Amino acid sequence: AQSWLRGEDPARPVEFDEKSGMWNVYGHEEACQVLADAKTYSSAHVQDLFPVQADRSLREGNLLDLDPPDHRKLRNLVSKAFSGKVVADLEPRVTALTHELLDQVDPDGFELVSALAYPLPVIVIAELLGLPASDRELFREWVDKLFAQNNEFSLNDSPEKMAEDFAEVSAGLLPLQDYLREHITARRRSPGDDLISGLVQAEVDGQRLNDNEVVNFSMVLLVAGHITTTMLLGNTTLCLDAHPAQRERVRADRSLVPVAIEESLRFFTPFAALARATTTPVTLGGQDIPADQLLMVWLGAANRDGRRFADPHLFDAGRDPNPHLGFGRGIHFCVGAPLARLEGRVAVNALLDRFPGLHVDPDQAPTFMPSPAMTGVKTLPLRV
Ligand code: HEM
Repeated sequence: AQSWLRGEDPARPVEFDEKSGMWNVYGHEEACQVLADAKTYSSAHVQDLFPVQADRSLREGNLLDLDPPDHRKLRNLVSKAFSGKVVADLEPRVTALTHELLDQVDPDGFELVSALAYPLPVIVIAELLGLPASDRELFREWVDKLFAQNNEFSLNDSPEKMAEDFAEVSAGLLPLQDYLREHITARRRSPGDDLISGLVQAEVDGQRLNDNEVVNFSMVLLVAGHITTTMLLGNTTLCLDAHPAQRERVRADRSLVPVAIEESLRFFTPFAALARATTTPVTLGGQDIPADQLLMVWLGAANRDGRRFADPHLFDAGRDPNPHLGFGRGIHFCVGAPLARLEGRVAVNALLDRFPGLHVDPDQAPTFMPSPAMTGVKTLPLRV
């Protein structure tokens, strides 16, 4: 990845990695090729190639691990319940929550992740699912546990170690699953206007989701939609701090806030690697890849591809067009992208409005997520 990012010769867009036994895909074009062809580059088949299998019941309803046609059925149902309107209606609530959290910070300085970037997305997901506010702390405790375990998870590990870690994380999630199951049963009896009620009632071609699918989809929202958004908020703040001229440009022209958020997703990609498995022999980026091989598609590297982006290592808050792959591409394109964009826009505007002199604390360095597949700040101490 280093030689690819530096544009060294030969900078190969696809490489086999002896240590992990996987193929690394770095190029933008090659990444798009993989993500556009779910038949050849399967998401479901990734699990089959791991030596330890996750419990089948945990995979039901997990959009990320499904291929067509199962994926299409579930995605249609989910899209119905998670529509653009549902997200747009959330804006006043996201704004109120952001200010509620920022009202509580120390006026001299605060750590951004614990004060805002971590709690905001988890509260939003809990409210979206319709979980009672009184359970917020309980819910957050389980989520904390999930991320404490996930933090130890590394894509540099062998597939065996990854599968073992995954099984451990899954076992730790049982109380959260039981809690969600109870909640679903209650919503089936008396539906409200929350996402879980929407999911249990959604119907496409006479098909509905079963409880397992709703539980697992809710967990996917937490896994795919929480820490990624946390990193987006932290990374964007860090990028703007590191580029003061760009920050002032955005402060003066707020229509640039959404543009700067897209650039942050490109420049400092939170969900930096996606796994796929070949179902048939293919040639990709000049490499012949047999069937049944694991691929890591490095979105973070593709987003710095000099063949696709001018000055790829420059943070340009006004970059347009910006065909970054930060939310993926193709049939698995992030369902939560509108929500993440909304939270990012509200949070960046609130920070610019409320703290004109906000900057990274010169006495306390930020810390970063330990996994190469999750690139983002873990803590970001700020001075007001
Ligand atoms: C899928 C990134 C926020 C829910 C994805 C994928 C990426 C991604 C790269 C594609 C995975 C693949 O192709 O295998 C991000 C980033 C976010 C974010 C960077 C924040 C900045 C969210 C939020 C939610 C969410 C807020 C929901 C609350 C999902 C779901 C999928 C997904 C359900 C699976 C879609 C499918 O397989 O059809 N996300 N995501 N994400 N994301 Fe996000």
